[in-house]
Amino acid sequence: MTIRSRIIGCGSYLPSNVLTNEELSRRVDTTDEWIVARTGIRQRHIAAENETTSDLAYHAAVQAMEHARVSASDIDMIIVATATPDNTFPATATKIQHRLGVVGFAFDVQAVCSGFVYALTTADMYIRNGQAKTVLVIGAETFSRILDWEDRRTCVLFGDGAGAVIVQGYEGTGTIEDQGILASRLHSDGSKYELLYVDGGPSSTQTVGHLQMEGREVFRHAVTNLASVIREVLADTGIDAEQIDWLVPHQANQRILDGTARKFGISPDRVVVTVDRHANTSAASIPLALSEAVHDGRIKRGDIVVLEAMGGGFTWGASLVRW
Ligand code: ACO
Repeated sequence: MTIRSRIIGCGSYLPSNVLTNEELSRRVDTTDEWIVARTGIRQRHIAAENETTSDLAYHAAVQAMEHARVSASDIDMIIVATATPDNTFPATATKIQHRLGVVGFAFDVQAVCSGFVYALTTADMYIRNGQAKTVLVIGAETFSRILDWEDRRTCVLFGDGAGAVIVQGYEGTGTIEDQGILASRLHSDGSKYELLYVDGGPSSTQTVGHLQMEGREVFRHAVTNLASVIREVLADTGIDAEQIDWLVPHQANQRILDGTARKFGISPDRVVVTVDRHANTSAASIPLALSEAVHDGRIKRGDIVVLEAMGGGFTWGASLVRW
């Protein structure tokens, strides 16, 4: 008997306030042309003043639970991937647990843009070890709160949002014909800490801080690391790149998405893209994109779906899933 974890429901939530490149160009020295050409981003959603990461996460979670047809009493574990928690502690996940009325345990995972892949992999491990049966996994961020809105090199790149999935264990056959997560790989390299970081924190400055990034260096490592981790999950399963039905990447930059897909011969219409409308929502970007492609009918039962991400740390990872 092999326990497998399958995603049985998806949900998402975006704040209603949309900030276009045009509006941004009135605040900082940038243009719509520069942003679109360099990143593919046209707009981003920004949380309202009183709207926190847990609010976005809660709405995404409710939609995922409805889609999966599960209630709070079915869920025994909640993981929230976020780098922008409501408070330094406790975990944002416990706030959502209380709001949903879930009994069980809840914690946050911090792997910045790779957070959702880390959280999904963690959920899979708990399920396969028999420690949990039905897990709510959320990626939720309010990066607008950690941006320096006068720094044109970074403030144009990010947005706010949340996506959620319900992951449930079942008895599979142990072959790659099973539905669910068939392979996952995670990596980090702390020697790249200073290429992408926030210059504040409780133990260092006692402030929240602002995002700092060496964009060119991040870009250079992104395509290489993503390609190598995708190769790993393909090798783990014996699945060929041609068999990938959908690539659902972390949405950082259209050029990173194109570069990664090109390396595997995946045609652009097989890549789920939301970066144009959402910008980079860090840990929320994969579940937001996944939810969109599942709800609009692109991703269908039996499809091979590869999720991949890279972010601060550096951290990176991929999961290969049969839908
Ligand atoms: N508007 C206009 N000009 C700008 C802007 C802007 N918003 N930002 C920077 N510039 C200028 C720079 O000042 C520079 O001008 P200079 O030549 O006069 O000094 C020029 O544009 C080129 O700057 P670069 O930083 O070299 O631009 P680059 O082509 O590398 O593009 C970008 C920058 C888009 C950030 C790119 O490096 C990138 O996408 N990197 C990946 C980073 C990323 O996606 N990070 C997200 C987090 S990590 C992750 O999720 C994978």
